[in-house]
Amino acid sequence: MDILAIESSCDETAAAVIRDGREIISSVVATQIEEHKLYGGVVPEIASRRHCESIVGVVNEALEKAGKTAAEIDAIAVTYAPGLIGALLVGVNFAKGLAFSLDKPLIPVHHIRGHIAANYLVHPELEPPYMCLVASGGHSHIVKVNSYTDFETVGRTVDDAAGEAFDKAARAMGFPYPGGVHIDKAAKLGDKLKYKLPHPKTANPYDFSFSGLKTAVINLIHNAKQKGEELDINSLAASFQFTVSDILTSKFVQAAKDNGYKTIALAGGVAANSGLREILEEKAAKNGMKLYVPPLYLCGDNAAMIGCQAYYEYLAGVRGGTDLNAVATMKLDKITY
Ligand code: KG4
Ligand code: ZN
Repeated sequence: MDILAIESSCDETAAAVIRDGREIISSVVATQIEEHKLYGGVVPEIASRRHCESIVGVVNEALEKAGKTAAEIDAIAVTYAPGLIGALLVGVNFAKGLAFSLDKPLIPVHHIRGHIAANYLVHPELEPPYMCLVASGGHSHIVKVNSYTDFETVGRTVDDAAGEAFDKAARAMGFPYPGGVHIDKAAKLGDKLKYKLPHPKTANPYDFSFSGLKTAVINLIHNAKQKGEELDINSLAASFQFTVSDILTSKFVQAAKDNGYKTIALAGGVAANSGLREILEEKAAKNGMKLYVPPLYLCGDNAAMIGCQAYYEYLAGVRGGTDLNAVATMKLDKITY
């Protein structure tokens, strides 16, 4: 079964053709990062307009690369939640128009479920049940993946998401948006133990809190500036990355241990972070857990992961109607259509 998937939840317009949920036939991602960089973050109105301009070209390119016409596709999938509402609406309305004009099934996909599914595209042996740590620009979750379409969140951020904390700390350090990747690069040149940063406490041991950590970095920079002291930005980047990675992985591995999981996975844009990958690999090995990590090209937003999850949603009977709407906020374990 070949699914044409469309993703437009934030600042990437993406389309992909996925075969039987596991094979990437084509995948095209048009990023708007260069434009949003000028403003230090995603400007929702600009994002929607760029999706409008790009979506036809991106979908055509994905079909061309797959050597298929739209009529030869078996179903159309689209990210309908969560995300920037105006950005989501572009993908949802385009997918609706295409699906109903071609008389093909329409499959609505939750964006975070898509991030989790990215691992299936490169790890054929991976199957639920397992536990997944999702760390992206908007979300940080510890999730029980009971089946391809049954999820249970046991921990989440109570304030900032991990990627958001990376981007805000990076901004204070003087890096352009999105800063996560710049912190990653700078951290390679620094000493991760040079700056002591807080490990905030949470009522639920599996929940995360990153806003205090971000504030600690901002305060440290302001204090140094006021005193005219030189800061070692590479070491600050390394210390920040190490602290975030330590918090994420300690809680995640503890949750996996407490719940008896021997198979674990990492997903989301922050999964691209080299420090996080390294620490999680060490902790998984130490605890005898098999860890699955997506390749870098499947960590950030893409439509391949949406097409993968769509296949399993399709098998579970999920279909979108002509009244399918975009939804800005939706929990991945309590979805509505
Ligand atoms: O999953 P994603 O593409 O978008 C959302 O669904 O939110 O995640 C984007 C986030 C951004 O905050 C970005 O800075 C972060 O992922 N990110 C990284 C790295 N690459 C991307 N954070 C840390 N290290 C990286 N190498
Ligand atoms: Zn995402």
